[in-house]
Amino acid sequence: MTYGREEQLWIPESDLDGMSVDTLAVRAGQIRTGQLEHSDAIFPTSSFVYGSAAQAAARFGGEEPGNIYSRFTNPTVQAFEGRIAAMEGGEKAVATASGMAAVLSTCMALLKAGDHVICSRGVFGTTNVLFQKYMAKFGVETTFVSLTDMEQWQAAVRPETRMLFIETPSNPLCDVADLAALSALAHANDALFVVDNCFCTPVLQRPLEHGADLVVHSATKYLDGQGRCVGGVVVGPAKYLDEIYGFIRSAGPTMSPFNAWVFQKGLETLPIRMRAHCANALELARWLEQHPEVEKVFYAGLESHPQHELAKRQQDGFGGVVSFQVKGGREQAWRFIDATRMISITANLGDVKTTITHPATTTHGRLAPEDKAKAGITENLIRLSVGIEAIDDLKTDLDRGFQALKD
Ligand SMILES: Cc1ncc(COP(=O)(O)O)c(C=O)c1O
Repeated sequence: MTYGREEQLWIPESDLDGMSVDTLAVRAGQIRTGQLEHSDAIFPTSSFVYGSAAQAAARFGGEEPGNIYSRFTNPTVQAFEGRIAAMEGGEKAVATASGMAAVLSTCMALLKAGDHVICSRGVFGTTNVLFQKYMAKFGVETTFVSLTDMEQWQAAVRPETRMLFIETPSNPLCDVADLAALSALAHANDALFVVDNCFCTPVLQRPLEHGADLVVHSATKYLDGQGRCVGGVVVGPAKYLDEIYGFIRSAGPTMSPFNAWVFQKGLETLPIRMRAHCANALELARWLEQHPEVEKVFYAGLESHPQHELAKRQQDGFGGVVSFQVKGGREQAWRFIDATRMISITANLGDVKTTITHPATTTHGRLAPEDKAKAGITENLIRLSVGIEAIDDLKTDLDRGFQALKD
């Protein structure tokens, strides 16, 4: 006798067709075992066994699909990949050991010596170092341009340009790129358009819908949301993902099953967390903007932001990162940061706990002074990754910083 759903160990992708990102965050990609567990299982195993030598040979020879070794595939990692791919609207995803491993693996798999990359200047400092120092060693040259100046992008294109790489909104100044315009430029020149979607997550922005070829993430940030694990992921069509998977399988920057499980659980609450981050960040940005000790606030949710209208069109919210300049220089910025008591002084972002950092001496500290200046990373700049604490308590803690500026 059958009861209807007992054979259904997982929800077929087609049953979720057309469902919203909120639903996909909770339901997509789960791989249920014969135990019929409700929550996702975790498979902390480095290798998998076979019923016979012949089956082992068939697996290794590629005649039979299935797991072999966790540097190649692991069910927990695959569950996370399935869920984030569904949320981003991509055909496939490959998880990596960190966000930087996602960027590196994309470049190693899809670029070769002699290729040229155009990258936005405001990218995460280590991404800049990866292109400028390491990819250059292997003959891949990178030109850095302003994220928002299309003329600079056009002028930088060469016959050998094979990739346009951006983060939008940018870190830490929240500049917003025109995804459709950059995708058109990339494709007119036979180049790939890669978007680091770390700040928005698929809840607020799905770059593949706007013409991006690939999305990369530092899962370490909002996808986890509670600052527990380091990880990354690349999402996009199989024709590129199969190449990237091939590199990861050979080079080894694989995501661990434990981390994949944490990220999988993190995704379940991502939509409601992102809405809470956005609401708190907008309120704080407005509050900071009218503060007499503040020189400038950088947040795309403010009507005063130069790409406010574009952000409204392209995103479903403005994100949780707010940056601002205090009046003065490094001394005032450090005094402000040191006077806060609850907010964590840490360079990580995307956590439910609010964090505060001084980009010029932390995340962007390795940039040459002229690159820092071009990227707008001034000494009086402070970045907040706004968490989900009560807004009045955040204001109380930040007021300690303002008080210290007056003393
Ligand atoms: C926008 C962005 N991309 C990539 C990275 C790198 O990610 P990970 O630290 O997970 O390697 C970071 C890290 O802060 C980031 O902020």
